[in-house]
This record gives sequence, structure tokens and C-alpha cells, in this order.
Amino acid sequence: MKSLKDKIVSEGIVLSDTVLKVDSFLNHQMDPQLMKEMGEEFARRFAEDKITKVLTIESSGIAPALMTALTLNVPLVFARKQKSLTLREDLIVERVHSFTKEVTNDVTVSRKYLSPDDNVLIIDDFLAVGEAAQGLARITEQVGAKVAGIGIVIEKSFQTGRHTLIEAGYRVESLARIASLHDSSVQFIEE
Ligand code: G4P
Repeated sequence: MKSLKDKIVSEGIVLSDTVLKVDSFLNHQMDPQLMKEMGEEFARRFAEDKITKVLTIESSGIAPALMTALTLNVPLVFARKQKSLTLREDLIVERVHSFTKEVTNDVTVSRKYLSPDDNVLIIDDFLAVGEAAQGLARITEQVGAKVAGIGIVIEKSFQTGRHTLIEAGYRVESLARIASLHDSSVQFIEE
């Protein structure tokens, strides 16, 4: 997606060979116009898939997922990393380890908001090793619902996540695929 790649080039900061900082439009300040365009692009790619629900994980996945859900006219559910005080219903829990942040979270979704007849589109901001997306897929499958696909804003294609998800049989659609962050420069996979 050209507008996203342009934004990454103009505002992204390469922190190391593996980490890209995009706080000015995705992870801290958010660019609503770009979010809207990304939501429309995900919705276009999954237009034929009869999506009934969009699922993401707090916090940075919520904005692109919400714009996708708005365009598809379906609800958005976000998995929580922290236990909610008011969340007392039957919970689906999956353990998700973040290699980048070196923390493990028990990620939860209430059973009230996912049902076996749901066809779920998973959306997340970054794909690194794919732990978060796999956790969301396991949550979906725990209730007997179907994973229609996984939409990623920024895929770091030099890490293992995409391969792992494809091997597991999931369809992965990424709006920007980064081949390398070597020498403080962002190289994309052109498609
Ligand atoms: P995964 O997302 O593929 O499972 O990989 P990993 O466990 O390594 O990533 C964990 C967290 O680190 C995720 O955020 C992910 O978005 C973020 N992350 C991974 N690589 C990068 C990167 O190069 N740049 C930035 N900016 N973030 C990266 P999270 O814990 O879910 O946090 P948040 O959504 O609350 O921001």
C-alpha cells in the first residue's frame, strides 16, 4: 500500500536491524486518515470472505482493526492483555509471549463476543515472529469459530512470523512488507 510505505519512509525510525519505530502514526500518535485507508484496503482484500467479526489485540491493533470493521460493517473485538475489573464472564485465555518486549501475557476474550459460527478476520499492527497472531487464532479456534485470514499493517518479512502463519495454513495479507532494516534503511518487498 503506497501511502503506508511512503509514511514509513518519511517518518519511520530504524532503531536497529530488527526494530522500526513508527510512533508518529501507528504506535503512539495515530494518523486517522491513514487508518481509514488501511481499513478500506483490508476490507477490500477480504471482501469476498463473509467476515462476521474482526479480532485484534490491545493496544496498537485497535485503530486499524476498527477502521476495517467499520468498512466491513461488522463488530470489532479486542483481546485484553490485562485482566479487566468488570470482565467476569466466561473467558477464553491464551498465553502469548512477546519476543520483542520479553514479556508473557495471558490474553483474554469473553466468550460472549465470539461464537462458533463466526468467520473471523484477525488484524494486528506488526508481524514479527507471529506469536500474537497465533494467540488470536487459537482463541478463535477455541470457540470453534473460523479464521478467515490475518491482516497485518507492517510485516517484517525477514523474521519468522509470516512463514509460521502460512505453514499453519492461514492466509496472511500485509499492507507493507519489509525485507530489511540494514544500515538504517527500510527496504520493502515489492509486490
Ligand atoms: P509478534 O507481534 O509477531 O507476536 O512478535 P513479537 O512478540 O516480537 O512482538 C511483540 C510486540 O512488539 C507487539 O506489540 C508488536 O507489535 C511489537 N513489535 C514487534 N516488532 C516491532 C517493531 O519493529 N516495531 C514496533 N514499533 N513494534 C514492534 P505489543 O506488545 O502488542 O504492543 P502494543 O500493540 O501495545 O503496541
